[in-house]
Amino acid sequence: MTEPAPRRARVIALVNQKGGCGKTTTTVNLGACLATIGHRVLLVDLDPQANASVSLGVDPATLSRTTYHVLVDPTDPGTAPVAIEEIARPSSVANLDVAPSSIDLAAAELELAARIGRENQLRKKLAPARASYDFILIDTPPSLGLLTLNALVASDEIIIPIQTHYYALLGMQQLLRTLRMVRDETGHDVEILGVVATMYDARNNLSKEIVNTIKEEFGDKVFHTEIHFSIKLVESSMVGVPLFLHNPQNRGAQEYMALAREVVIREEIAGRAEARS
Ligand SMILES: Nc1ncnc2c1ncn2[C@@H]1O[C@H](COP(=O)(O)OP(=O)(O)O)[C@@H](O)[C@H]1O
Ligand SMILES: [Mg+2]
Repeated sequence: MTEPAPRRARVIALVNQKGGCGKTTTTVNLGACLATIGHRVLLVDLDPQANASVSLGVDPATLSRTTYHVLVDPTDPGTAPVAIEEIARPSSVANLDVAPSSIDLAAAELELAARIGRENQLRKKLAPARASYDFILIDTPPSLGLLTLNALVASDEIIIPIQTHYYALLGMQQLLRTLRMVRDETGHDVEILGVVATMYDARNNLSKEIVNTIKEEFGDKVFHTEIHFSIKLVESSMVGVPLFLHNPQNRGAQEYMALAREVVIREEIAGRAEARS
């Protein structure tokens, strides 16, 4: 009998420096669907606004330690650094743990700025946790600052959510430049796993036109699943339980489940290609 292969989580950051494009909603609902189909998932909240933590039923105001403490190691020699496992906690979804953030994290950009290896901090801290999960998803803030840079360096791949509105592709060149910079400066090749169109509105032709523009830009990187505009997704984030858990028949829930299945398939293909090389 051979030993089962050790788990080694794929790390995926959800990135787009534009605010309000569906990063947090996608991280939370994709995470919940991956967990529901049996994967062990850790969601790392790297946005000081902590919307992902709240959407998973965690109240940041009650926490003494968050991703801030993991990312910014104490400079005081009497204080031990905090591991990601120490802050990861069960969420409102079975199989889905969350490493919550809080508003303190807003200070991390400045505090990290003066340190050596500042963009490697999250990668270093996530390494031991990769043995305990199948997927680690990172929700990022709406900027390309040091927090997002830490997420990029820590990730195998990224998913880019793009809202199907005017100016959808605004800022994409800047994001692609940042990816190239990470590659050139750190030698770490972070791939685009896929691009997902969000808040699709079937009632106007604009959404369709914009999806076509996204496909012209990103080709087969674009996921087949589009996430339609759904007020239920907004409501579910307010009650702290992802949509699939309380309303699995809802279209938004079904779409995120379809996206989760696409992610699993793409990861299997990427993993096999890596194993061969
Ligand atoms: N498919 C959707 N349909 C309707 N509202 C959505 C959808 N996805 C996200 N939203 C809402 O849009 C706002 C921005 O989404 P969010 O996921 O927080 O974006 P980001 O994390 O990129 O800032 C939130 O109020 C969220 O509830
Ligand atoms: Mg967000």
